[in-house]
Amino acid sequence: MFRKILLALVGILVLVLVVFAAFVATRQHLRFDAPYPEVTASTDSAVVARGHYVVRNVANCAQCHGDTTQWVANQAGAEVPLSGGFTWVIPPGSIHARNLTPDEETGIGRFKDGAIARALRHGVGSDGRALLPFMEMQGLSDEDLVAVVSYLRTQPPVHNLVPAHSYTLLGNVLKATMLANPVGPSETPPQQSPHGANVENGRYLVEKVALCWACHTQRDEKTGALVGPRFGGATNFIEPADPKHTWSPPNITSDSTGRLSTLSEDDFVARFRLGRILPGSPMPWQGFSRMSEDDLRAIYLYLNSLPPVKRDVGPPMVDVK
Ligand code: HEC
Ligand code: HEC
Repeated sequence: MFRKILLALVGILVLVLVVFAAFVATRQHLRFDAPYPEVTASTDSAVVARGHYVVRNVANCAQCHGDTTQWVANQAGAEVPLSGGFTWVIPPGSIHARNLTPDEETGIGRFKDGAIARALRHGVGSDGRALLPFMEMQGLSDEDLVAVVSYLRTQPPVHNLVPAHSYTLLGNVLKATMLANPVGPSETPPQQSPHGANVENGRYLVEKVALCWACHTQRDEKTGALVGPRFGGATNFIEPADPKHTWSPPNITSDSTGRLSTLSEDDFVARFRLGRILPGSPMPWQGFSRMSEDDLRAIYLYLNSLPPVKRDVGPPMVDVK
């Protein structure tokens, strides 16, 4: 009797696993037809200059898409080609950053303006895939979307073939479940970008472009889901180019345990102007250090307006034993 029940249970378990495996397998090549934003690259010098500022200083696309052979120069602030190739070896698989130069064969040369804009706004790749959530910039304003695409078009093309991603079993399961659907904007993005040393501009920069919360909030190591209080800091942040350390992006709220409580508005601007102090820090200080004074003040004002979080994540850099 007991054996029969056990066999039946094993049978059910096997059946469930087979059905789940089939479900996962059928969902590996899902395609989505999110709308193409109406974006046409401009050659207007003011538009290209704004795109340059967003790409190089605020969104820091080179942090991930920069030429991997020029990592040191990149960290030191040189504007290296966005020729891609950086590889993250993470639990879901080996993920490669695309070549964003206008090379026809290996870059974005053949992608329509709208396809590049759609990748950023709706998280859908040029081939209709749901992109992995590395670029949570869906809230870029219409104006900035045009500016970014316009700047990318001005780059010299670099021929660099980046391999396709390869996924682990976990990656395949995530692609079929949690990460199956592309992520679009959480609210209608503004047409124009805010400007000036004010909370509204700070909110836009912090939440939608510079993505300070993406590092300064604890995440689940396997899935990347945010699991801690926003801006409350994080531990065990891994910078793949620097395997000797893990990082703890500090709490950046105004609580007494937060970094903001120790900095006046002027101190905050001065700290950003200093750039990277801890060698290898994954924070893109090289770009942020050149942000406009108004934008840095706006960021400070916005962070100060957020609810304080009590949490101390300890020293910013920990040696890997
Ligand atoms: C945190 C790292 C990171 C940053 C910062 C980043 N990207 Fe990406 N980007 C990636 C990764 C990883 C992929 C591959 C995603 C995938 O294929 O699922 C990608 C893919 C892309 C694609 C290709 C979409 C397609 O059709 O395959 C475009 C276009 C792109 N990024 C543009 C940008 C621009 C523009 C910026 C700056 C405004 C930027 N990225 C910043 C990591 C990043
Ligand atoms: C790619 C991850 C990443 C992003 C994005 C990021 N940070 Fe950080 N941040 C870190 C890490 C890691 C540290 C700790 C190491 C260091 O101080 O460089 C840090 C440190 C800091 C510090 C403390 C510096 C000090 O001297 O004590 C402040 C303030 C800060 N970040 C603010 C911000 C703000 C504001 C933004 C958005 C504009 C932001 N960070 C975006 C990873 C990040």
